Amino acid sequence: MPNAYISGTGFYVPPRVVTNDDLANQYGIDTTDEWIYQRTGIKERRYADEGVSASDLALHASESAIERAGIDKRDIDLIILATLSPDHHFPGTGVHLQEKLGLCEGENATFVPALDVRNQCSGFLYGLATAASMIQAGTMHNVLLVGTEVHSAAIDFTSRGRTVTSLFGDGAGATVVSATEEDRGVRSWKLGADGRYAKALSLKIWDIAKRPYIPLDENGIGQMDPEMMYPFMNGKLVFRHAVERMIEVMSQVTREQDLCIDDIDLFVFHQANLRINEYIQKQIGAPAEKFVNNIGRYGNTTAATIPILLAEAEESGRLERGMKVAMVAFGSGFTWGCVLADW
Ligand code: ACO
Repeated sequence: MPNAYISGTGFYVPPRVVTNDDLANQYGIDTTDEWIYQRTGIKERRYADEGVSASDLALHASESAIERAGIDKRDIDLIILATLSPDHHFPGTGVHLQEKLGLCEGENATFVPALDVRNQCSGFLYGLATAASMIQAGTMHNVLLVGTEVHSAAIDFTSRGRTVTSLFGDGAGATVVSATEEDRGVRSWKLGADGRYAKALSLKIWDIAKRPYIPLDENGIGQMDPEMMYPFMNGKLVFRHAVERMIEVMSQVTREQDLCIDDIDLFVFHQANLRINEYIQKQIGAPAEKFVNNIGRYGNTTAATIPILLAEAEESGRLERGMKVAMVAFGSGFTWGCVLADW
């Protein structure tokens, strides 16, 4: 059975920086840099310009991951794309990325399959577990796995939405997951979900059970209530469950591998709130130096967070061959997961 390892990483964030002060001064949101930073660790985030979609960010990140993996894009056997901000309701965003990568053009078109994952902050880890399983089963050799988000198009820039709006940022991270005979790669993973909390962190945008599914006025024009248009979050509930589930899933995976927390060289945690990660770090008794964080610069980039962290850690030399890496995430659904890999 081949092993599955991450052979290339890449990321892309849009150039426009929006600081906490910008949210207050330019967008007119009733907030302060002090409130946001103290509660979340966020200083600034990136916003894509109008006209830029999740597949555009994904394209840049993917090109860089493919180059660093040292493969030709035509060697990709499958695209897995995780997002909560898809380009459209359907089709999935993976096919837009496939087309933008030029994989359905010319004589060498591969028409590679494209699979969308809709598991929010855990989406990348759900995708990684899927990619690794397919590679270990011998059915795939190179899977392009991408997390990409354009949150800034669908958050509430009035003070009503300040809790959620101050958290999120745009960006994309990509990895190539490849087969190898070497003794490295994904060792173990565990995923979970608890649908009882589906509404605790959700964007209703429309209700497909209703006729019409988007409320219309007498002229047939869509009338969208802000409560449906923008994300709803029960922040305190999310915080509590995130802490519990992330610790639980990580200890399940490490125990299964006969490892303890001290054996982990690098913790790559989802970045929803720096305070969540700091709390977990203290609970498990791991040194802060073993954690990589970027929430201060990018905010919560949901499915893109973990692959962006991996790409940055590789670029800066913090991620080296042979390291034991624990990737852990929790998010809307609720969904969560942990993947343990030998880099
Ligand atoms: N600026 C100023 N005041 C604010 C802001 C802001 N940006 N946001 C909220 N407030 C106010 C609230 O309106 C409230 O005011 P009130 O008491 O007058 O009503 C007060 O601050 C307290 O609000 P809470 O929501 O109770 O604040 P809390 O201490 O819970 O912190 C936070 C909010 C930071 C969002 C926290 O709950 C949290 O991080 N939760 C987890 C978030 C998370 O992990 N999300 C995952 C998303 S990932 C995904 O899957 C999509």
